[in-house]
Amino acid sequence: MELPYAEPYKIKMVESIKRSTQEERVKWIKEAHYNLFNLDSDKVFIDCLTDSGTGAMSDKQWGEMMVGDESYAGSRSFLKLKKTVKEITGFDYFLPTHQGRAAENVLFSVLVKEGDIVPGNSHFDTTKGHIEFRKATAVDCTIDEAFDTAVQHPFKGNIDLKKLENVFQAHPIEKIPFIVFTITCNSAGGQPASMKNIKEVSALCKQYNIPLYFDAARFSENAYFIRKREAGYEHRSIKEIVKEIFSYGDGMTMSAKKDGLVNMGGFIALNDASVFKQATVFNIMFEGFITYGGMNGRDMGALAIGLDESTEFDYLESRVEQVAYLGNKLVSYGVPVQQPIGGHAIFLDANKFVPNIPREEYRGQALALEIYVVGGIRGVEIGTVLADRDPKTRENRYPALELVRLAIPRRTYTNNHMDFIAVTLKNIYETRNLAKTGYNIVEEAPIMRHFTVKFEKI
Ligand code: F0G
Repeated sequence: MELPYAEPYKIKMVESIKRSTQEERVKWIKEAHYNLFNLDSDKVFIDCLTDSGTGAMSDKQWGEMMVGDESYAGSRSFLKLKKTVKEITGFDYFLPTHQGRAAENVLFSVLVKEGDIVPGNSHFDTTKGHIEFRKATAVDCTIDEAFDTAVQHPFKGNIDLKKLENVFQAHPIEKIPFIVFTITCNSAGGQPASMKNIKEVSALCKQYNIPLYFDAARFSENAYFIRKREAGYEHRSIKEIVKEIFSYGDGMTMSAKKDGLVNMGGFIALNDASVFKQATVFNIMFEGFITYGGMNGRDMGALAIGLDESTEFDYLESRVEQVAYLGNKLVSYGVPVQQPIGGHAIFLDANKFVPNIPREEYRGQALALEIYVVGGIRGVEIGTVLADRDPKTRENRYPALELVRLAIPRRTYTNNHMDFIAVTLKNIYETRNLAKTGYNIVEEAPIMRHFTVKFEKI
């Protein structure tokens, strides 16, 4: 008999999580104005709101916390992190920031001007937010396959070269300050980009003299998929694959809360000395001095270890295959999910799951709420609510996909939790035809409304 898979770690510390009754949850979610971001974590049993900053650190990372150097300038922890970032990414210049969107804020303050066009593959909402906040436009050039959850494609995070070149040709080149390549592509379902595609996009960018920046929050998971799915990479180490990916770009922004394996942190790494110099000014203004940028010394030390651990195959196998374990169970139950299963989360296809709920009534949100009420599981809508209104017309933007994301924190839950989630969804799926109405928005912010929006049940 073939031996089953077992994780390459054991658990040293546990944290209790609270169970609750469906009755309690019905009351709590109403009090939270039907916004899952408004719920206290004690009211959640399995928290799949995000994989961002919610994972477990290793004993080595915790050990590093104790030797953190909290000097304002030039701390040992900073130098350790700087060295690791150079070793792993190959980029020469490095600026710490307190998280990923802060890295975007600093870098885009240098690069993005009013009227600019920033192409990419389904930009994450903060990335898009930071572009639109500067009165520039994010143009999505993701391949079409990404928008059909049933299509099997190994690299749904790829950029469509034709779409990208069309953007390059439709606008004056000086209006396109750079492109953002998000690896893995969160908004498309945690889907990876292939090395071939990254290489081709890089070549096209060079041809038009446009810099390529990676949104690298989940770069290690992307490298794992390349190793598993792309010919020629099956025997390469993750660290070699990562190095090659970054060799095709000019720089990166990083939310270290994902593949940095820390609870808070981020950075910018890049090759252009002039962009770096300008970015230091904004870093000091928004984040802190350039040798800490909003991070504690101890956290920079833990991040240095985290980057090293997240680029090891054994860790990535346990991480990505746990997500696949849950995803494959759901597929076997007939539950509609983005396929193949992504690196960090399950993306439920709400258009197929609850087609009877009108889109104007936020069917993705309705499904996310049902999952909470039935199982105490908190996910997040990645659909019309998240897509915000068009900045000019103020009309709802209806994205191609209406998804509910169940993100799996790293090294945090066991496969028993995955089974619990799977059965909860199976049960909801079996009664899905009963759901006919959704929710109305009663209050919302002008940008990034999903965090604070209030709903009423129809
Ligand atoms: N880029 C990507 C691809 C992300 O997924 C995120 C955050 C960011 C940038 C911003 O980083 O949160 O550190 O400021 N994603 C989280 C999520 C919030 O739940 O997917 P941040």
